[in-house]
Parts: sequence; C-alpha cells; structure tokens
Amino acid sequence: LDVLMVAAEAVPLAKTGGLGDVVGALAPALSEAGVSVTLMLPGYPAALAVADPQPIACLDNLPGGPATLLRGVLPGSDVPVLLLRNDALFARDGTLYADAEGREHPDNPLRFGALCHAAARVAAGLPGLPRFGLVHAHDWHAGLVPLLMREAGVTARSVFTIHNLAFQGNYPKEWMARIGIPAHACDAAGVEFWAQLSFMKAGLVYADRLTTVSPRYAREILTEAAGCGMEGVLGERAHVLRGIRNGIDTALWNPATDQALPTAFTAGDPAGKHTCKAALQRRFGLPEDAFAPMVALGSRLTHQKMADVALQALPSLLNRHPRLQVAVLGCGQPEYERGFRALQQTLPRRVAVHIGYSEELAHLLHAGANVLLHGSRFEPCGLAPLYSMRYGTIPVASRVGGLADTIVDPAEHDPQHAPANGFLFDGAAPEAMVEAVERALAAFAQPKVWRQLQRNAMSAELGWQAAVPEYLALYRDLLGHAVDDLH
Ligand code: ADP
Ligand code: GLC
Repeated sequence: LDVLMVAAEAVPLAKTGGLGDVVGALAPALSEAGVSVTLMLPGYPAALAVADPQPIACLDNLPGGPATLLRGVLPGSDVPVLLLRNDALFARDGTLYADAEGREHPDNPLRFGALCHAAARVAAGLPGLPRFGLVHAHDWHAGLVPLLMREAGVTARSVFTIHNLAFQGNYPKEWMARIGIPAHACDAAGVEFWAQLSFMKAGLVYADRLTTVSPRYAREILTEAAGCGMEGVLGERAHVLRGIRNGIDTALWNPATDQALPTAFTAGDPAGKHTCKAALQRRFGLPEDAFAPMVALGSRLTHQKMADVALQALPSLLNRHPRLQVAVLGCGQPEYERGFRALQQTLPRRVAVHIGYSEELAHLLHAGANVLLHGSRFEPCGLAPLYSMRYGTIPVASRVGGLADTIVDPAEHDPQHAPANGFLFDGAAPEAMVEAVERALAAFAQPKVWRQLQRNAMSAELGWQAAVPEYLALYRDLLGHAVDDLH
C-alpha cells in the first residue's frame, strides 16, 4: 500500500508545535511497520535546505501560480518527501503561518489551498510517483484534500486527522472561488461554516475516515463544550471518527542518549537527573539547590494552555513553599508573556522565565525539573507531559483529552491498570491547579513515593507501538484488506 501523507509541518523539516512532532514521527513509524509512506509539505526554504530534493514535476494552474514539485527524503529516515515549491507563497519571514510580528499571513488560504490542490494532483497520479491507494491529511491546512480528490475523480481513499479543532482555517467566503472550491461544495452541506470557507470543515465532511489524536478527545469534540462549533458536523460523522493516542519519538526524547543534557540517566540509574537539575538552575539563573522542588512550565503561553490560571496559581504556591522554584519556557499571547516576566521580577531568585522557543532548552527543562505543570482547557493529545514523563519529571495536568488518557493519578489508580504516574485536576479554577500541585509537592517530600512515581512515569509506554497497529487497522478497514496485504 502506498500512502500519501499531507501536512503543513513535519520535524525536522518544519515545526511550530505538536503537529510537526507527530507527522515527523508517525510517517517513519508507519514506514518501519511496512507501509510505504510519502510525505508532502509546502516547500519552505528551511525544508528545501535539509531534504536534499530534486525537481520531479511542474504543476501549473494552482492557486497562487505555478509551482515545482521536488522529491527528497525526511532526514534521519527513508521516508520520501514531496515539497511544493512556490517561493512567493512559502518563502516568508516569521513562523510558518504568521509574520515576524505574529500577524497571520493574509493569503494563508491561497498558500494552503495550493498545497491541497497539488496533493490532489499527486493523488490522481503523476509520472514517476507511486499510485497512492490512500491519502492521509492532517489538520486544517490539508483539509481540502479529500474534497479536491473526489472532484478530480481520484479513487484513493482518504483519512483526515484532527490535531486541534480550535484552529479551523476559516476565511471570508470570497476565497472559495479564488482557490477553486467547486461550486456544489460552497454551501452549508459542504465547506461553508457560518458564512465562511472552513478548511477544517471540508476535511470533516469529505474524508472517508476521521481520526483525532486521543480517544477521549474524540468523545469530547462531539460535545458543545469542546466541539468548537463543529460538534453538529462531527455528530453526523461520528461513525467514521476514532481517537488514536499519539506516541512520541522515544529515540529523540531519551534521557539515556540525549545530547542536550550534561549527563545521561535512566529509570534504573537516575543519579544524572540531579546534574541536569543543577544545570537547569544555572542556565535559568536560579540558586543551585538540589532539594528545592522545581516546577517547570513549557508550552505555548496561551488561553488553551491555561497560562492565565498558572499566573493566578503560582503566587500562592510560591508563598506557601519558601523553597519552591519555578522555571518557565514558552512564548505566546503577549499579556501572558508580560505576566510571567512580572512574576520573575517580583521573585527573581525563585522564578525564572525564558520567553522564546528553544528545542535545546526544552530538553533540559524536561530533564532537570521535578514537576511539569501543564494546565489545558482542552488538549487533543498534549506531548509536553509525555516528554516530561520520559525524563522522570512528574506531570500535573488537566483531566482532559490525551492527558486524561495517559496520566494516572494516585487518587484514581486502579490496581488492574497502569500504575500512578502523575497528578490531574479538573476545570480552570486556580484553586484546583494549586491543590494538584500541592499533592505533587507532598509526594516529592516522600522520596520513596516519588521514586516510584518516577519509575512508573519513565517506564510508561509512550512510543508509537500502540498507535501504529491502530492506524494499520484503520487503513485496512478502509481499504478492505488484511493487514498483511498492506505491505
Ligand atoms: P501544542 O501542539 O498544542 O502546542 P503539544 O504539547 O502537543 O502542544 O506540542 C507542543 C510541542 O511544542 C512540544 O514539542 C513542545 O516541546 C514544543 N514547544 C512548545 N513551546 C516551546 C518552546 N517555547 N520551546 C521549545 N519547544 C516548545
Ligand atoms: C495539537 C494539539 C496537541 C497535540 C498536537 C499533536 O497541537 O493542541 O494537543 O498533542 O496537536 O497531535
């Protein structure tokens, strides 16, 4: 079986968040399981620079003008990558979606519309490329692919994965004609969502199968509370929707081999974690204190990630625990960035804030801290707590989505199931967050209890070994094949 996987991000070619981590790890994991996967991404300059691509086709009549299709390889794997090069669309400063000041590129519908049209052309068949039997599109950027495939009479089946329903790619209706949406799809039964064009809705309506990145989030998005207005559309397609929890790249996030750390450590020999903690304290300018409980926050500083709640909860925790240290790595909404900077100014020897994006610091943060505080109003999967668990840093997180599917709180641990490996809280009240951190700090004060939690967290199954067979079963089900026939 040849699968074409279409996305806006895949590490190490392009990443702004968890989407990039997941696509960049899922494609090689499926490939190792015997599925022949080809990735397709926009030809961002950084991606072109590392994928070593060769031109294979010119595609004209695309939104935004003609483009070149190049084929390279996803570094560190044998997964072929198709990159769609149109420098007017994809060679931009700033992040993948916004300019250096954080303003979304106004022509994003054109940019990702071009990606979707090009992917449908590839699925229809191009000389020198496989005949793809299945196209797997990720998040709103690739949401038009199933519709455009149908329109082109492509017989390949389609899967659409929702990584975050809150980002829908909704744009003024005028874009529909500009980016070549067929007229029959331009209504409420098709791509129209509250009088706008919605890339996300197109994926939800036209894909043969829908998935999301944890079982619990698949149930949550059918409700008004987490459906982001799409719960009605999803309700009609609930029979083809399932949740498959993401794995993480356990080779990249491995305390035994991580080059970003001063010392390696393992669950059986955790002594090196103390050295990592001291290095983190030095790097963040906090006093070196092996016994100070160290709480880390490492994520986008946004409303989704409860940055506002953490800003309310942390002062009382710092008050009650004179030795507590807090290290923050993140960037996001300016008011929250300001809030964390202000907290650091008030308590400079207790709170250290690094506003910015740094993969290297993220590794040190996960390795050196004792607790990772990760509140989320909703969380499709949530990778950061999974990374932290791998490094024996105990998560305190919200009981939602993939976090609730992964983290086992001692208060609800059932001996039949996975052992306790973290702490969960409900809702967005600062008191609930404080209470959960308090329980973590109480456990931290009992070395034997803490060591057990760390062992449980570090030995939890966090890789792709569970998700890959589920995707294979989904593909098989969709194509009516036996799993073995997929190879
Ligand atoms: P989301 O994609 O919703 O932001 P995830 O937890 O799934 O949440 O993935 C976030 C990814 O981005 C993780 O790989 C995390 O380590 C990374 N990340 C977020 N903020 C930063 C930052 N400031 N520096 C480095 N990595 C970050
Ligand atoms: C999104 C979600 C996050 C998930 C990631 C990867 O960014 O917000 O919860 O882990 O996608 O699927």
